Amino acid sequence: MKNKKVFIKTFGCQMNEYDSNRIYDNVSNLGFIKTEDQANAECYILNTCHIRDKAKEKVYHEIGRIKKLYREKKKPIMIVAGCVAQAENDEMLKREPYIDIVIGPQAYHKINDLLKKHELNRKQEETEFDTISKFGYFDKIKNNNSKISAFLTIQEGCDKFCHFCVVPYTRGPEYSRPFNKIINEAEQLIKNGAKEITLLGQNVNAYSYRENSKEFRISNLIYHLNQYSELKRIRYTTSHPKDMTEDLIECYSSCKKLMPFVHLPIQSGSNRMLELMNRKHTVEDYIKVYERLKKINKEIEFSSDFIIGYPGETKRDFEDTYNLIKKIRFINSFSFIFSPRPGTKASKLEMINKDIAKQRLTLVQEKLFNNQIEMNRSMENNIIEVLVENKMKTQNKFFGRNKYISPVIFDGVESNIGKIVKVKIQTSNQNTLFGLVNKKMKAA
Ligand code: SAM
Ligand code: SF4
Ligand code: F3S
Repeated sequence: MKNKKVFIKTFGCQMNEYDSNRIYDNVSNLGFIKTEDQANAECYILNTCHIRDKAKEKVYHEIGRIKKLYREKKKPIMIVAGCVAQAENDEMLKREPYIDIVIGPQAYHKINDLLKKHELNRKQEETEFDTISKFGYFDKIKNNNSKISAFLTIQEGCDKFCHFCVVPYTRGPEYSRPFNKIINEAEQLIKNGAKEITLLGQNVNAYSYRENSKEFRISNLIYHLNQYSELKRIRYTTSHPKDMTEDLIECYSSCKKLMPFVHLPIQSGSNRMLELMNRKHTVEDYIKVYERLKKINKEIEFSSDFIIGYPGETKRDFEDTYNLIKKIRFINSFSFIFSPRPGTKASKLEMINKDIAKQRLTLVQEKLFNNQIEMNRSMENNIIEVLVENKMKTQNKFFGRNKYISPVIFDGVESNIGKIVKVKIQTSNQNTLFGLVNKKMKAA
């Protein structure tokens, strides 16, 4: 399979992005080379997401598009990976003969074997939950990702079973990788040039690994990473309010590199809804964490995920959510209308009126977007620190992020890449800050 081209298209969360990189690290050992040209590949991998809406239909639609791209050419080996693959498994092979391989997120260590067997023209499906073998296998394969800001999965799966969510079914039970294997991989990423590492997990702050009767938590990983001089920033996502333990909160006072930005999904500002959703925490628990962190550092900002129009949501419940967004000035947040997912408890419940749900979403988003605009405006004419990730493809400008993960576009120079530079913000919009490098200030 030497020099064959592979195109990987990734949907969904950061964990899928990490997985796509690791899939590539794996298939490159077979001789595959990544291409950006999706119409000229020998192997096409769709890494899918099942979290909302017509996820399954989107995949078939995407395959229809790929078929057209290759109508006049040799068909690529078509692989469907990710959470839709896990949920649908061999049904996909039956429905769409264009697909050759269906592989779930806990079976990526088997992808090279499947590709080898494909030469025998076999249709194959692999959706066992075999997380320990997967990470055991990948621990032996170098992580070749050379991005300035790199993802590192430390934990997979979920045991919380919120009633709306497919993740426990698509990613399986919670599993935490061994501490020293994570550190080994972090060292590879740092050697490759990473200046920022984001620790990933569906429940990243539930990370718990035991060895010789000692428990390692995410706080231990953060303290450890904080010591590497080449590494400038540490982040983690996604965390659950129930697992915001004191040791993790303490990291915000001891670890300078831990960014003052906490993505902590709450879903609703009503305790009644949180209970119906099976979230296992209250609004008061959440506010306690918020206040505790603000006390440590008032610069810490919060972002969240909100589900609007969950079955049973009344006007009063919605107002509670709206008022919480007023109280905690969330930035960089996500909000979605509830989408019933197959196999989940909430999928059997009666939906609320669609128009009401839409109106509520509009109100929440207006408020969240306003928070964002105000936050960005407050930085205009200020000098802020930006970790520079790359030169932009479409214009002669550079791209980086501030401590709150907001994109910053500015006039810079090639040597800024990989450094934290001081940028004077001139203008902003809802999503992005625009500025100039402040040449008098020394880069870090
Ligand atoms: N583990 C994280 C947590 O507990 O907050 C969230 C992981 S989930 C991949 C990301 C977000 O998708 C959730 O926070 C939720 O807001 C949203 N989500 C999940 N299932 C959904 C559904 N059925 N309808 C709408 N949004 C959903
Ligand atoms: Fe889904 Fe997060 Fe709930 Fe787990 S904790 S079921 S990943 S929303
Ligand atoms: Fe989507 Fe699976 Fe991530 S459902 S959000 S790709 S864990």
